[in-house]
Amino acid sequence: MMNHIIEAHGLTKVFPGGIVAVNDVSFSVEEGEIFGFLGPNGAGKSTTIAMLTTLIRPTKGHATVAGIDILKQPYQARLAIGYVSQDLAVEDALTGYENLRLQAGFYHIVKIEALKRIDEVLEMVDLKDRAKDKVETYSGGMRKRLDIACGLIHRPRVLFLDEPTLGLDIQTRREIWKYVNHLRKEIRMTIFVTTHYMDEADSLCDRIAIIDKGIINILDTPAALKTSLGNEIVDFTFSKGTLEEQEETLQKITSLDFIRNIKFAQEKGYIASVTNGESSVPAIFEAIRDFPAKIGSISFKQPSLDDVFLHYTGHEMREEKVDKETGFRTRMIMRRTRR
Ligand SMILES: Nc1ncnc2c1ncn2[C@@H]1O[C@H](COP(=O)(O)OP(=O)(O)OP(=O)(O)O)[C@@H](O)[C@H]1O
Ligand SMILES: [Mg+2]
Repeated sequence: MMNHIIEAHGLTKVFPGGIVAVNDVSFSVEEGEIFGFLGPNGAGKSTTIAMLTTLIRPTKGHATVAGIDILKQPYQARLAIGYVSQDLAVEDALTGYENLRLQAGFYHIVKIEALKRIDEVLEMVDLKDRAKDKVETYSGGMRKRLDIACGLIHRPRVLFLDEPTLGLDIQTRREIWKYVNHLRKEIRMTIFVTTHYMDEADSLCDRIAIIDKGIINILDTPAALKTSLGNEIVDFTFSKGTLEEQEETLQKITSLDFIRNIKFAQEKGYIASVTNGESSVPAIFEAIRDFPAKIGSISFKQPSLDDVFLHYTGHEMREEKVDKETGFRTRMIMRRTRR
């Protein structure tokens, strides 16, 4: 049987003082997948990454990355792993190129090979023409791209991106997604990404694990998560026709086989639960073409990941303020392991 590129079995982390940051988490990731951990602040996302990247030791459980046991062979595992922390790790006072040279040094990559790879990763994140400039002159998105390039210099098979777009504007976030997608498509890299942006998880990830309070509540493709709630919805209102005419038209719509039920909601007009997705909209128009009442507005809506999150965790995912201390701690751990 083919091994998964990441396999986690019962990963658990209890911090001193009894904080259970990650509680018996098991999952597997397939090669070439973009796998997402979606959860609010303090859910245990970074702690899971820290265990998988050998930065901290699990209290219980075990895992393999690229077939390598992270507990038995942490050094070999690290060579298979690229890690881009939640906070920027690049040095402002150095140029992009110098940052990459430094990073290549951490992996003892010899100069001639390093130059080749620096060229390669700069190309990947589209920073070739800014490589000689100091990082302090870069935009937020460019810094993050350089950060990702640093995580790629040793050609890892699996890249861990911890909140790669946190605090960036939507345009820059999209730009980062583009590069992440590119890595997956062009070099079939497996990417493990954490985020608390719903839209990001939805459009970027092949599969998502919803994590809350150290526990994975559910794991599936974004589409399956949403359809698991079972209700695709069409809202519509009438713009023309007497009440009787509207009633007659409504009866026709109700009789269509893809309509589960129709409810009347004061402000929204009619809300129909449908079984055939987006194609229900043109089908409704077609069915009532010769009917006297006319539809004024109509829209199709799928349950969003917000709805999914609420459904499986029992609460909404609030945007909380970023835990500065956690970020600082991650950075310190990162620096220690580099030396
Ligand atoms: N070194 C540590 N010592 C004690 N508690 C810790 C430590 N690291 C994390 N925690 C706690 O473990 C829990 C999970 O933290 P973690 O950083 O994994 O969450 P996260 O999902 O990455 O959150 P965020 O979205 O804020 O980055 C939190 O309650 C956090 O305070
Ligand atoms: Mg985190």
